[in-house]
Parts: sequence; C-alpha cells; structure tokens
Amino acid sequence: MIPCEIRVYLPYGLTDRRLMCDGVSLESIVERLGTPVYVYSARAVREAYRAIDEAFTGYPHAIHYALKANSTLALLRVVRQLGGRADANSIGELQVALRAGFAPDDLVFTGVGKTRAELEFAVAQGVAAINVESPGELDRIAQIAADRGVAARVAVRVNPDIDAKSHPNISTGLKTNKFGVALSEARDVYRARRDVRGLRFVGVHVHIGSQITTPEPLTRAAEVLSDLALALRSDGVALEHMDLGGGLGIGYDGRPALSAADYAAAVLPALRRCGLPVVLEPGRALVAHAGALVSRVVDVKVYPDSRRFAVLDAGMTELMRPALYGSFHRICPVVPRDTPDTPWDVVGPICESSDVFARDRPLPELRVDDLVAVLDTGAYGAVMASNYNRRLLAPEVLVDAGGWSVIRRRQTLDDILALEA
Ligand code: LLP
Repeated sequence: MIPCEIRVYLPYGLTDRRLMCDGVSLESIVERLGTPVYVYSARAVREAYRAIDEAFTGYPHAIHYALKANSTLALLRVVRQLGGRADANSIGELQVALRAGFAPDDLVFTGVGKTRAELEFAVAQGVAAINVESPGELDRIAQIAADRGVAARVAVRVNPDIDAKSHPNISTGLKTNKFGVALSEARDVYRARRDVRGLRFVGVHVHIGSQITTPEPLTRAAEVLSDLALALRSDGVALEHMDLGGGLGIGYDGRPALSAADYAAAVLPALRRCGLPVVLEPGRALVAHAGALVSRVVDVKVYPDSRRFAVLDAGMTELMRPALYGSFHRICPVVPRDTPDTPWDVVGPICESSDVFARDRPLPELRVDDLVAVLDTGAYGAVMASNYNRRLLAPEVLVDAGGWSVIRRRQTLDDILALEA
C-alpha cells in the first residue's frame, strides 16, 4: 500500500504491483462488472467521519453529511451507523435520506430556490432545521407552517461576503453570489419575524464554499456566525445551534490538505465565544478519498509532435469535475508497467474538448485494454454523472470488511427509455 499520510486514510494502494482498495483487487471487481465502475471504501468513510468527530470532541457538535456529495443509499447507511445525520439539498435528497433510515429530526434542509412543494414536504416532516435563503422564503415557510398549525424550525443562511479562496464555481460566500441573506440584514430579518406564528428560529447558518484548504476563511465565517448568534441572544432570540455548513477540502494530490484537526482549531475559538452547539455539513471530506473511478483504456495514439493520448471508456459523463472546474485527480494504472513515466493526456470518449481528465500527466506506458483508476472521486463523481451520448450510469461498488458488493447496478438502456413515449 502507498504509505498513509498522517491524519488521512487513503484506501487505494499497490500490493504486488496491483492496485487494491483496502486489500480488494480492483481487477476482480472489473472482471465481474466491467468498466467504467465506481468503487468506494467503507473504511475510508468511517475514518474520515471519525477524524472530524474526534477533532470536535469536547464541544457539542453534530455531523450532518451533505448528501449532494454522494447519496447512494449504502453509503448513507454507513454514515448513519456512525451516528451521522444528514444535510439535504432537495426534496429528492430529503426522501433518500429518510429511506436510508435517517429520522426527520436528523435532517437539515438547505438550498437556494426551494420550491413550494419542497418547503411543504420539509415542514410536514418536521426537519431539524430549514436553512433559509431569503426573507421571502421565510415568509412562505411561515405561511405553510401556520396553515398546518405548526411552527417550522428555521435558520437563516447568512452571506458574509467572505472569499473562500477556492474555485470561483464552488465559492458561495461572496456578496456577488446568489446564496443567503446579507450579513448586514440578517439580524433585522430575525428580529422582524421573531413573533411570527409558524416560525421557530433555531439556528444561524453559513456555507461559504467547498474545497476550502486554508483556515482563515473558515475562521472568519465562524466568527461572523458567533457574533450574529450573540447579537440575537441579546435580542432575546434563543437559538439552539450554529450551522457552519460544509467546505472542508481534501488533498487531491494525495497529501493532507487542511486536516479535520486544523479545521476544528480554526473554528472552535470563535464557536466557544458563543457556546451554542455546532452543526457541520461536510460532504467531500467524508467521501472523496473513498472513491475511485475504474476505467479501461480504449485507444492510445501519438501525434506527430509526440503528444500522447490515452482514451478511456469513462469521461465527463462519469466524472464532470475536471471539465467543470479544471480539477486535478490522481490517475493510477491498476497494473502499472515497469517503464519510465512520460507525459500522457488522459481523455474521455465524448465529443467535447473539455472531456479531458489530465494533460501531460507523467505515467508509465499505457496500452489498449489497460485499466486505470481515477482517484478521490467519491465526492461529486457519480452524483454528477449524466446520460449524455446515451451513456449509461456506471455501477457502484462498496468495499467493506475484506469483501465487496454492488450498491448500485449499471443502468441499462431500458432504464432510460422507460421514461420515453
Ligand atoms: N452545505 C451546503 C449548504 C452546501 O452547498 C455544500 C456543497 C455542502 C454543505 C458540502 O460541501 P463540502 O463539504 O462537500 O465542500 N460539485 C463541486 C462541489 C459543489 C459543492 C456545493 N455545495 C465539486 O465537485 O467540487
């Protein structure tokens, strides 16, 4: 196995020159299921969960896994068995969380642009908190709840105008972003509605972005949230929690980025000033390292200027992140040849020039039919896949306790044509 870096458990490594996931051979999985296929390590999810849980030991906290990172039922059950709760971003995610066994009380419901049907569902279920994006949404919730004779548990998501210093497409805390209520208005939004029938203010919420790898923005967000909660306390608004959102980044180069302990150290001093229990909504940090997208080389070609391409049977339809954010993923041959590394362009089969996983990536020789694994794809991989080019969603496998099982079968053409006239 590749030696594990301190603090981060990496499940993929070479044993006898063959890539394994927690000791399970990726070749054996491919033999049965073909490619492309997503493989996840249950152990990696558990280790990542424990790292966060332990980092916050001694401070009251709840880990609400952000389903949007990967909501396959079997993975949700792993999180639930650890004592985790859930953050859902749509009615679909709320329903999937309930089917995975989470109780309504385990759920926070976030998301810009919630529909009336979504709000009605969340109010009817009595979720732990609806994280509210605007005064208008608060008023719609109040109406829905009052009509049912209940008070909806709500928190206002504030937009603190903090730069998360991540990719612009996944930064959400700037005042130019569509998310939340301006910090300068938030206190008034609470005060103006504190006696509204149908609303029960239970928290304050912030989420400034994803794949955050420096502590400062997280510290500032925690400070802002703590200040707001203290101000509201002095206004007589008794809250139950502060929700810091998600955002903890991972090291896509295989080295630890910001560890869970660094994260806790960055936010705990601010949280302690206020003392309210904290809700965390990690997505990526729990599941990214667990996943690998295993794919087969279907063509190899060398241009006259000696640029080398390896064309895979997986592309942006299976893994959008490189095309969408130019993001880096480690790529490992499943059985690496003993040849010197040369630069390879590793690309998908889609007729889009953004369908590229890596450019000039140093890799040993690749040949047609070789298997490669694109690593750290447990988060925002399978969930962002599409049927573009009538390609079928890849199956997903969970490796656990030395064995593996299919947790989602490969989609068939009949599955998708069943929707059509
Ligand atoms: N809470 C809220 C309100 C969110 O919007 C998100 C992610 C999370 C929690 C979880 O954030 P995490 O801990 O995973 O950073 N598709 C992009 C990431 C989009 C994240 C959107 N919101 C990617 O592949 O990098």
